[in-house]
Amino acid sequence: MNKRIVYYEHGGPEVLRWENEIVPDPAHGQVLVRNELIGVNPIDWKLVAGLFRNDPAPFPGTPGWASTGIIEAVGPGVHDFAVGQAVIVDSRARLALISGSYAGTFREYVAVDTRQIVARPPEISIEQAAGLPSSAVAGYSMIHHLGISKADTLLVHGAAGGVGSAAVQVAVARGACVIGTASPANHDYLRSLGAHPVDYTADMVDAIRRLGPITASADAVGGAGSVAATVALLPAGGRAVTAWGDEHSHAAGIPWVNHPDDELHQVAKLAAQGLLNIRIAEILPLSDAAAALEQIKTGHSLGKILLLP
Ligand SMILES: NC(=O)c1ccc[n+]([C@@H]2O[C@H](COP(=O)([O-])OP(=O)(O)OC[C@H]3O[C@@H](n4cnc5c(N)ncnc54)[C@H](OP(=O)(O)O)[C@@H]3O)[C@@H](O)[C@H]2O)c1
Repeated sequence: MNKRIVYYEHGGPEVLRWENEIVPDPAHGQVLVRNELIGVNPIDWKLVAGLFRNDPAPFPGTPGWASTGIIEAVGPGVHDFAVGQAVIVDSRARLALISGSYAGTFREYVAVDTRQIVARPPEISIEQAAGLPSSAVAGYSMIHHLGISKADTLLVHGAAGGVGSAAVQVAVARGACVIGTASPANHDYLRSLGAHPVDYTADMVDAIRRLGPITASADAVGGAGSVAATVALLPAGGRAVTAWGDEHSHAAGIPWVNHPDDELHQVAKLAAQGLLNIRIAEILPLSDAAAALEQIKTGHSLGKILLLP
């Protein structure tokens, strides 16, 4: 049997249930992956809460975008992956492009389309691999979209989180000067990544001005405060993107990043080169998925939470 986390209604993490299902056979173009570790992302609690009206997943739903594991079986028409191969799963990243494939990763075995996996580079650990999809991909995507180079001074809002810390590392690797906002508890962490930390709980705009003019802004927080700061600090012709589009970013004309097809490949390559490292907070049993979602929902996790099936 295949153990999985399910929800039969939208709500808080308390609606999650632990259930058995038959291990699925991979369909045409799919592989069956035995998950070794599962990554937890903010999108997981948001989907369970029903924040996306266009989420096509029917009940019962299973949360989860991210995992890494071993291919146990391949479906018809699969020629580029083989049984026994280690892969990274980004199960919903191309949801809009792959109709009918809603397989959440909070389960032991997951059947996924081969367009939702990449080979796991041997240089990276299982923990790092499980932490890459969704947040780190979005962080990379923001820097790619902005075209950051060594000529830039980049502001990253929420620089200590999964998205922000990936954006910082990719921008630093491109030679940019990076200013990152975080609470003081995360300032040493930001310095270790090569960013100049700024406390968003104090007078953030003045503190950033004292560090010098910015040329671009990548927002991994969203909401009125960070959008207002971006608007106040960005000169005419400056570039800005957000990982969490809302009415504030929309009104300010700040685009919401999306992911071209090869971005998981790119973050896996950077991780294999040692240029991208995911901070891991803790590993919990899959049966503690509700506790993991409670923690990530606070918006102040000290690193990536992983689930062990
Ligand atoms: N577009 C996409 O494809 C995509 C993909 C992944 C995630 N996202 C979205 O991006 C956002 C961040 O995701 P994540 O994975 O990075 O979350 P996360 O790992 O839980 O990190 C959240 C971070 O935000 C920081 N933070 C909270 N309030 C802040 C504020 N007002 N100013 C500055 N920093 C603040 C926290 O730092 P402190 O503890 O120091 O406050 C924490 O490090 C979420 O809304 C998520 O849904 C979008």
